[in-house]
Amino acid sequence: MTHAAITGVGAYLPERIVTNDDMAKMVETSDEWIRTRTGIRERRIAAEDQATSDLGVGAARAALTDAGLAPADIDLLVVGTSSPDMVMPSSACLLQAKLGLSCPAFDVMAACTSFIYAIQVATSAIESGRARRALVVGADALTRLIDFSDRRTCVLFGDGAGAFVLEANDEPGILGIDLGADGSKPEVLQIPAGGSAMPATCQTVEDGLHFVQMNGQEVFKFAVRAIPATTKKALAASDLTIDDVTWLVPHQANQRILDTVADRLHLPHERVFSNIECLGNTSAASIPLAVNDLYTSGSLRRGDVLALVGFGAGLTWGAAIVRWTKEDL
Ligand code: UT7
Repeated sequence: MTHAAITGVGAYLPERIVTNDDMAKMVETSDEWIRTRTGIRERRIAAEDQATSDLGVGAARAALTDAGLAPADIDLLVVGTSSPDMVMPSSACLLQAKLGLSCPAFDVMAACTSFIYAIQVATSAIESGRARRALVVGADALTRLIDFSDRRTCVLFGDGAGAFVLEANDEPGILGIDLGADGSKPEVLQIPAGGSAMPATCQTVEDGLHFVQMNGQEVFKFAVRAIPATTKKALAASDLTIDDVTWLVPHQANQRILDTVADRLHLPHERVFSNIECLGNTSAASIPLAVNDLYTSGSLRRGDVLALVGFGAGLTWGAAIVRWTKEDL
């Protein structure tokens, strides 16, 4: 059987750093509140002329270089995002042109779980023989969709992009995947206006309905249930247990979520990767950005097992178990 494995990893972060003290100049908040409630100290914000596909270009090029491939080698591009450049065409098509690819390209929208969904799509294409080399990008400029006068949301998010190259491989790299969705409570985390249900009008703009609205406590409760459950299911599908996991790499939304999940899975906290302090919640980009940090810091060894776990609006959740097959840096 043909398997899929990660052969390239890349990341891109916009240059502008916004600290908690900077946030405190915009809304009534404090470095102390943000740090103790979320673990975040600073985040990156895209430049005015950067949209989601522009962030994706940097990550995708880095992943291609890491894999030793040229754009012409790629036969599938999947972009996970919930802040596409525009409603249509997809950010994947815009990114395809910027990279000089000529392969099929489309977006996957599962909010902060988008990257795990995108891995599933690319893995299935490779395993079935419909693609051999897929570029999977998680990119979000979610700060464009945030109300910077709403302290409940604006302190949480940052912008960025991460990418994997997945290739057909004799040795399995992507092991088991678990995905889930429960659309019964969309209001828990949503952007109500700007789509076909509530097209943009002067009123929707005045009411701020094209910004992210979130019931933080509901999402928190959901996350600390969903992450352990989906991780265990994906591990079972891989014939592995939590003891086999070298690194749990959860979506970076709140340090308190990561700590709670570590306890619930009986994992030492140092095996649960976190870079939320410097990046905040970068939505679909957070998981590949985290893997890139682990990889470039020399923390990954061939044979390591990574549990990549996402959750977010929808509600959606999902986990992909990865055996690290790249040679050590
Ligand atoms: O990828 C998307 C996934 N999203 C998430 O994972 C979010 C999950 N939820 C969370 O991370 C947390 O619920 C938050 C960080 C969003 C909020 O933390 P919390 O401990 O649940 O706070 P809270 O919503 O219960 O609010 C406590 C207080 C409130 O004041 P009152 O009503 O007690 O007077 C808020 O108004 O904190 C206030 N507050 C703030 N104060 C200072 C809310 N945001 C801020 C802020 N600065 N930025």
